[in-house]
Amino acid sequence: MVDFAGRDIISVKDFTKEELTYPFALTREFKKRVQAHEGLDLLKGYVLCSLFYEPSTRTRLSFESAMQRLGGGVLTVAEAKRTTSAAKGESLADAVQVMEKYADVILLRHPEVGAAQVAADAASAPVINGGDGAGEHAPQTFSELFTINEEKGTIDRLEITLMGDLKHARVMRSLAMGLSRFDIKLNLVSPESLRMDPEIVGMFEKGKVVELTNLDDVLPTTDVLYLCRIQKERFASEAEYEALRGTYRVDNSLLSKAKKDITIMHPLPRMDELDPEVDSHPGAAYFRQAADLLYNRMALLALILGKA
Ligand code: CP
Repeated sequence: MVDFAGRDIISVKDFTKEELTYPFALTREFKKRVQAHEGLDLLKGYVLCSLFYEPSTRTRLSFESAMQRLGGGVLTVAEAKRTTSAAKGESLADAVQVMEKYADVILLRHPEVGAAQVAADAASAPVINGGDGAGEHAPQTFSELFTINEEKGTIDRLEITLMGDLKHARVMRSLAMGLSRFDIKLNLVSPESLRMDPEIVGMFEKGKVVELTNLDDVLPTTDVLYLCRIQKERFASEAEYEALRGTYRVDNSLLSKAKKDITIMHPLPRMDELDPEVDSHPGAAYFRQAADLLYNRMALLALILGKA
């Protein structure tokens, strides 16, 4: 039996296939109700605290919108290192133990791998990992599995290609872990120096995962192409980043070699790896993917707070 009430969402490793897909129906339901501008009060009397030590557009705002659309309240802390008592040296563990006195669920983004687990260990309230350095972004995977399923009608039996900075992009790491629960073929396209963590590659059966440096070899058979930017903020020097920047670029000319019904996904923000001309491609799903974040987060919040 699936039960999300009171649970932290820290790592995709903690969730089964059944749990990862369980919020799909509720996500669809909330999508309909938001699009009909129905006022909902399921989470009236509940408060979300979003605590962000790194910049964000989608993660923070989609969760905050989700909470508000369900009738709940929001405490929002951007630039937490500068604007909270972290600036005076307060530990993350102490901070979340105070914040849970003011809020019922904590959404955290932090530059250090493992920070979300530190917060979850300290807090009694559920903690959601909105990104811990180059670690994970587990709630993103819940939503992106939903988007893939909506776009393709299935996840099983697809050939999915992840391309870009597979070493540092936490959304890629979490998504690959999530996809390992499904019967898919996974292509991992990256420069040699930005390969996916071997532990994550090892979650797939032999023959179900391939590592490459060139997209051309797998583009014609790919059902879903998911690309991301080179994660500039994770490199030790500007020079190392510049050496890899521009390695991949997806445009309409490249996509003419792909399946007619290919789906193109990107977590955003995009840099020069995805030409804006692709926006008019019927398979360009990245803005739909960003919209789904809202509906899926409404589902996750309702489930975690025991209201669905
Ligand atoms: N995709 C994503 O995590 O976006 P933000 O960094 O804007 O939250």
